Amino acid sequence: MKVLMKKEWFKDWFESNDYLDVYNHRDDKEAQTLIELIIKTINPSKEKIFLDAACGFGRHALVLSSLGYKVIGFDLSRNLLSMAKRNSLAKNLTLDLLAGDFRSITFKKKIDIVLNLFTSFGYFETDDDNFHFVKGAYHFIKEGGYYVFDYINLSYLKKNIVKETERIIEGKIIREFRNIENDRVNKKILIQERNTIAEYSESVKLYSPEFLINSFNYTGFELIKQYGDYLGNNFEEQESPRLILFFQK
Ligand SMILES: C[S@@+](CC[C@H](N)C(=O)[O-])C[C@H]1O[C@@H](n2cnc3c(N)ncnc32)[C@H](O)[C@@H]1O
Repeated sequence: MKVLMKKEWFKDWFESNDYLDVYNHRDDKEAQTLIELIIKTINPSKEKIFLDAACGFGRHALVLSSLGYKVIGFDLSRNLLSMAKRNSLAKNLTLDLLAGDFRSITFKKKIDIVLNLFTSFGYFETDDDNFHFVKGAYHFIKEGGYYVFDYINLSYLKKNIVKETERIIEGKIIREFRNIENDRVNKKILIQERNTIAEYSESVKLYSPEFLINSFNYTGFELIKQYGDYLGNNFEEQESPRLILFFQK
């Protein structure tokens, strides 16, 4: 099946409840593992302020809050933000949640650590839009603060892409079609529930590790650590499922 890219696909997709079914394996346990890696790597004291950029339903932010850190989270999806709010109330934890778009949000308050986790990057068509937030963050991150970036490893994806899958979750048939074209990984998602079929798309610009590191360096950040998965294994370009980069201002 041809996978066509839909402009601003991220608006409908992340606002839908279907997103939560398709990514139900991206859960609190995975978030806990990644937060443990982040804490082990930069060892922040408890007064540090985290900003979870594109916090979704708050899975990473809530782990940090449970550890006693002050966490601000923003996201474009009102649906995911209200879920984050509900989750924080249910766990008796505090999150400072805001609606915002990567292409325009900025902060007057100085932040110690910005988190940009689970491929919340590369959604826009131009590099200027994709890097807009990174450039802005350099100005509101404190001197010595960090930007943690968790993204697709391009070489691994190219070798391992599965063109078509079908699963059943919560009685819904979920069919996904993937391809790589024009430096983007595109996905069409069809969700069939009884007689209705909902269709969504995803499209992420694929940047090489070199391009990303150079772009962050150009902004002023210095790379201090890289990993290839959430367990903290070394990054190996051909083998690692993730590209996890720690930058410092
Ligand atoms: C793959 S999810 C990751 C969410 C969260 N970081 C996690 O790991 O669960 C991508 C997130 O980016 C958000 N998002 C998409 N486009 C955005 C935009 N233009 N500005 C801010 N957030 C956006 C989505 O709503 C979604 O929560």
